[in-house]
Amino acid sequence: MTAITALRQIAPEQAPPDGISAAELDHLMASVQTNRFLPHPPPASIFVGDGDYRAIGAEFLGHYIRLGRLRRHERILDIGCGIGRMAVPLTQYLDPERGSYDGVDPVMDGILWCAQTITPAYPRFRFQRLDIAHPLYNPQGSLPGTEVQFGFANGSFDFITMVSVATHLPPNELAVYLNEASRLLAPGGRLFLTAFAIDGQNTGLERLKFKRWQDGPGWYAIEEAPLAAAGIETDWLLGAVADAGLASDGLRRGHWRGINAAHYQDLLIATKPGAGP
Ligand SMILES: C[S@@+](CC[C@H](N)C(=O)[O-])C[C@H]1O[C@@H](n2cnc3c(N)ncnc32)[C@H](O)[C@@H]1O
Repeated sequence: MTAITALRQIAPEQAPPDGISAAELDHLMASVQTNRFLPHPPPASIFVGDGDYRAIGAEFLGHYIRLGRLRRHERILDIGCGIGRMAVPLTQYLDPERGSYDGVDPVMDGILWCAQTITPAYPRFRFQRLDIAHPLYNPQGSLPGTEVQFGFANGSFDFITMVSVATHLPPNELAVYLNEASRLLAPGGRLFLTAFAIDGQNTGLERLKFKRWQDGPGWYAIEEAPLAAAGIETDWLLGAVADAGLASDGLRRGHWRGINAAHYQDLLIATKPGAGP
């Protein structure tokens, strides 16, 4: 499959999976945005990017359910969970007895806020700080990203999310994470990953202008800090996903390209083969 045929236009509005109607999901997303009793970090401590923390969380809750077919009873791993932007909305959806959420991240402040604020109210939401080295997020980290092995047993999760994380990793680390995701997913489990996928299909309206990093599959938009916004070649990404043993239905293009889309970054959903739940 070529990069171009692998790319999809915006997915038509998909009905949510059994158990929640489209109207209930709309209501849930709206209430996540407006419920002032939900935890919210102090604005100055939010290090995961610009934009409305609550609105972006609500948006992704919708994508998880509509596009990722996330069910209430599933076990989620959030790799690069930051300061709980995805976790907070999920507290309003996951079944408090059967569903679970584990978040991992190298930034101590984010993990501390989540562990002190979210876990006491939602005990099946757990957070772990991992000392993974990253030039921007954790420059003194002791564990190289290429040596990461998450401390969970094979097949522990039904859904793994990496939102705006592959956009900060070099290709060799991303390959390690894809293999880990495949190891950790149960059959039928899904990896939900966002990326800036580089495919040569330029509109001229891109919000970021990427340049190739040396002669590999990695691209960068900001010369002084290549991992502040990292792109990845589409064919390489799809190949690495397949090599990891996951089946993807192609990339959904994001509106960073200057096209009409439901999400900013490109989105890839890849499934671990085998019988689903
Ligand atoms: C733009 S933020 C996105 C955070 C979160 N996924 C969200 O959407 O709110 C990128 C996150 O990736 C984390 N990160 C950076 N390098 C990482 C690595 N090697 N492994 C796991 N997480 C990493 C950062 O600490 C940061 O929390």
